[in-house]
Amino acid sequence: MKKILVATEKPFAKAAIDQIAPVVKEAGYELVLLEKYTDKAELLAAVKDVHAMIVRSDKVTREVIEAAPELKIVVRAGAGYDNLDLEACTEKGIVAMNTPGQNSNAVGELVLGMMVFMARNGYNGTAGTELRGKKIGIHAYGNVGHYVAEIAKGFGMEIYAFDPFVAKEKIEAAGIKPLDTVEELYSTCDYISLHIPANQHTKQSINYDLLNKMPKGGTLVNTARKEVIHEEEILKLMADRPDFTYISDIAPDNKADFEAGFEGRFFFTPKKMGAQTAEANINAGVAGAKQIIGFFENGDETFRVNK
Ligand code: 3PG
Repeated sequence: MKKILVATEKPFAKAAIDQIAPVVKEAGYELVLLEKYTDKAELLAAVKDVHAMIVRSDKVTREVIEAAPELKIVVRAGAGYDNLDLEACTEKGIVAMNTPGQNSNAVGELVLGMMVFMARNGYNGTAGTELRGKKIGIHAYGNVGHYVAEIAKGFGMEIYAFDPFVAKEKIEAAGIKPLDTVEELYSTCDYISLHIPANQHTKQSINYDLLNKMPKGGTLVNTARKEVIHEEEILKLMADRPDFTYISDIAPDNKADFEAGFEGRFFFTPKKMGAQTAEANINAGVAGAKQIIGFFENGDETFRVNK
């Protein structure tokens, strides 16, 4: 019987496991759970006889791949797959997939939720500002960007987007103004919501010069990856621009410097929680299980990312 490991340092909601388990069982596979592990050695031991695995932001390194001789497929239950060593997967003939779109609404809701929280001064009782009429720039219009735009419409915001990989017609059809350059997006918008992946082209790409183009009172909302931010430069910008606010779903490495100097002008979640809803966990977890079964039963590689 083939074994499917769910290895999640940050576990899925119980409701998600309750739905993943019967999908796996009914297809004739065995579900193995490794949740809340704190040591890499636990992961290395757990992968040694499994044929498939589902992970979240868990790091599937070359070491993990090499410790899993039976592994045929790894599914990242989520969008960003920067935690998978794709080269090692490909070398070993392992299929790597993600589950695009499955947790996007959860991230979109968190974006607007954090924006309201900061616009109202952390609900401290003082007068804040409103989102209606403000300009929001979607930096990369994928699944999450789509939901952010939909929700921002409800707030009466003006919505702009920059994405060189998406046809302008598609962006316009969604009632969003497409802009030609990333610089134009930043110089136009009061809020920027980041949705770029972390890769060799994007790491540290959100830097001083780009952010400094934002109008007075500008706010950056990062639910993408901390790696895409130039952390030293955003700190310098915070110092030079007392009007600038930074919101991030997961703290930067230099969090202590923010705490020391910029009280009230930043907000960081304690753990990455954009996708931390029961619905997102169910969607992404069940999709992951079904993709694994589809791959074994029918050779379906639809969401393969290491083509
Ligand atoms: C994603 O890329 O799908 C999100 O960042 C969610 O990551 P998580 O499953 O580790 O919360």
